[in-house]
Amino acid sequence: MPQLLIASTNPGKLREFQEILGGEPFELLLPAQLGIFLEVEEDGATYAENAAKKALAYCQAAGLVTLADDSGLEVEALGGAPGLYSARYSPIAGATDADRRAHLLANLKGVARPWKARFHCTVAVAAPGRGVKLCVGNCPGEIIPTERGTGGFGYDPIFQLEGRAETMAELESAEKNRLSHRALAVRAAIPILHELFGV
Ligand code: IMP
Repeated sequence: MPQLLIASTNPGKLREFQEILGGEPFELLLPAQLGIFLEVEEDGATYAENAAKKALAYCQAAGLVTLADDSGLEVEALGGAPGLYSARYSPIAGATDADRRAHLLANLKGVARPWKARFHCTVAVAAPGRGVKLCVGNCPGEIIPTERGTGGFGYDPIFQLEGRAETMAELESAEKNRLSHRALAVRAAIPILHELFGV
């Protein structure tokens, strides 16, 4: 079976990549399984730059077709913040996902609801000698003031999906992995992977 390296160390994302790509005819590998430990600074001006940088760095290190993503939460009333900085959105050193959710809600205090938002994901696929290809996915919804649900990760407990009563954290993982920004971007990348692997 052809091998696909998933260039991420975020456990929440890794679980989702594994579930979304689970039925595909390629073996998923993680950097640690290959003894690869890279620190790739996410200093790009766009999701695309960051995703491409990660995918290329791991692709070069492993010599394997590599998939990486860069994702974030964009809140309309905050001018699109935290966006690219979603993973670092808290003044607390060593902040947790809960700290970042609290910081977001503090910044929305006094702002009239609904707090429209969307999750965005850009996926980059890098192949040795064949450059990088990009796919995107968006998932609209709104931020709610009280956390609900225990699934997913990150901002999921305060993100209610558009047209639904549930937060992202209240969905079964199979359903999140059908509807999410990451699911949409990864599914758009599947034909690219099939072509690269000739499967
Ligand atoms: P990065 O893609 O590693 O820069 O991290 C993106 C950050 O955006 C994550 O650490 C989360 O805080 C947030 N994020 C991205 N995707 C999701 C999701 O599916 N659910 C909740 N939060 C997410």
